[in-house]
Amino acid sequence: MTQLSPVPITRAAIRWSLGHALPRTLLERAAKQGDLHGRMFVATQSSDLAELEPVLEELRTHRPFYKGKFAHVSVDNAAVRALLSNPDAGSAIIPTDPDGRLAKLQAWAMQDAPLGPLTPPSLLVTEPPDHTRYRKLVSRVFSVRAVEKLRDRTQEIADDLLDTIDPSSPTDIVSTYCSLLPVTVIAEILGVPEADREKVLRFGAAAAPSLDLGIPWREFRQVESALREFDEWLTKHLATVRRNPGDHLLSQLVAAQEGGVGLTDEELKSTAGLVLAAGFETTVNLLGNGIVLLAGDHEQRKQLTEREDLWPNAVDEVLRIDPPVLLTGRVTMADTEVEGVAMPRASVMVALLAGANRDPLAFPEPDRFDVTRENARDHVSFSAGRHYCLGAALARMEGEVGLRTLFERYPDLRVEQGGVRRPTRILRGYEKLPVTLSPEPA
Ligand code: HEM
Repeated sequence: MTQLSPVPITRAAIRWSLGHALPRTLLERAAKQGDLHGRMFVATQSSDLAELEPVLEELRTHRPFYKGKFAHVSVDNAAVRALLSNPDAGSAIIPTDPDGRLAKLQAWAMQDAPLGPLTPPSLLVTEPPDHTRYRKLVSRVFSVRAVEKLRDRTQEIADDLLDTIDPSSPTDIVSTYCSLLPVTVIAEILGVPEADREKVLRFGAAAAPSLDLGIPWREFRQVESALREFDEWLTKHLATVRRNPGDHLLSQLVAAQEGGVGLTDEELKSTAGLVLAAGFETTVNLLGNGIVLLAGDHEQRKQLTEREDLWPNAVDEVLRIDPPVLLTGRVTMADTEVEGVAMPRASVMVALLAGANRDPLAFPEPDRFDVTRENARDHVSFSAGRHYCLGAALARMEGEVGLRTLFERYPDLRVEQGGVRRPTRILRGYEKLPVTLSPEPA
C-alpha cells in the first residue's frame, strides 16, 4: 500500500473541517435554537421533500429574505431571481477578513484540492471577467442549434434502450433508462469511448456528494479520490482528443478561440468534467421525477396524449414541481442591495430554488402539477443570471424525448413499490425506481 504524506492528509482534514464539519456543527446547533436556515439544513438530511415543506412554509412568511444567524435565505421567486442576477453576488466564497488566519488556513488547505465542480476554474465558481470569456467560448458550442442537431440521435438512443427492457417484468427504470439516456448523449458529445463509459459513470456517482455541505470524513475522502481519478482520466482523454479530433463538441471546445485565445488545459478539463457530471447527475433526476409525477396522474397523461405539443411545457412543469437541484448559494462581493434589502460585502445568501418554484405569488396553486400551466417555464430550476445552466436546452430536449418516448410507447406504465430517493442534499431524485412498462399482457 502506498504511504500518503502527512501534509496532503492534513490539508484534506482542514478542507473537510472548514467545508463540512464546522458548517454542519454550527447549522445543527442553530437549528436547535429555531434558526430556519439551520432547520432547513437538518430537513435536507432526509431525501423526502415532505420533510422540508413545513420549513419552506415558515420561510415563506419572511419576504423577501429570512435573516438567519449565518445566511439570508429566500423562497421568494422575485428575490431569488434578483439575487441570482445581481452583479455583486458571486458564487465563490469571500472571506469576511481576507488577511485573517482562517482565510489563510483555507487558502493553504486548498492548494492540493482536486479539481471539482466547486473549485476554480469551474464555471460554477468563476466570476467576471474570467467567467465572461470562458462562458462565451463554451456557450457557442452548447447553443440551442447545436443541441437540436442531437435530437434525432437522442431519439435513437431512447428507442434502443427501451428495446432492451422486458416490458412485462419490473425493471429499475433509473438504471436501465433514466441514467443511460443522458450519459450516452453526453458521452457522445464529449467523445468518451464506449469502453470507458461504465468507469466514467462510476466516477460521477462517487463525486456527486461533492456539491453537498456537511458530509462525513469518510465520504469526503471517497469524493476527493473519485475526483482525482476523474481528473487523471480527463487528462488522458483530452490528450487523445487533441491528437485525434473527432466530430463531437469536445473537439470544437478544444479548438474554440475568442480573440485568438482559447481555453487553457485546466479550464478545458474543468469544463469537460462539469459538463460530464452535470450532464448525467441532473437529467437522470428530471427523468425519474417526471416518470413518478406522470405515472401517478392519469388526467395529465390524457392531456399529453390529446395535445402532443404540450410535452415541452410538461417537462418545465416537472422541473418546477420536483427540481433536480434543490438550492444554490451566493456571497456578496461588494456592499449591495437585493430586492430593497441592504447586503454588506461577504453576506452569505441561499436561494432555495425548490421553494421559489412554489411561490404562490408567482404560480397560482403552486403545489398542483399541471402540464398546461401557462408560466411553467418561469421556474428557477436552471438558476438565473450569468450562471444560468449552460445545459438547459440539452436537458429540456433530453427530458422531452426521454419522457415522451417512454409514455407514448407504454401509456400504462406502473410505478411499483420499492422506489428509493438519492441521499444527496442538493441533487434530488430517484436512485432506484422499479416500474413495469406494460403491466397488462397484450
Ligand atoms: C435537468 C437537468 C439540469 C438541471 C436542473 C441543472 C441545473 C443547473 C443549475 C441550477 C445551475 C446553476 C447553479 C448556480 O446558479 O449556482 C447549473 C449550471 C450549470 N449547468 Fe446545469 N443543470 C442540468 C443539466 C445540465 C446539463 C445536461 C449540462 C451539460 C451541458 C449542464 C451544465 C451546466 C454548467 C456547465 C453549469 C455552470 C454554468 C455557469 O456557472 O456559468 N447542466 N445547472
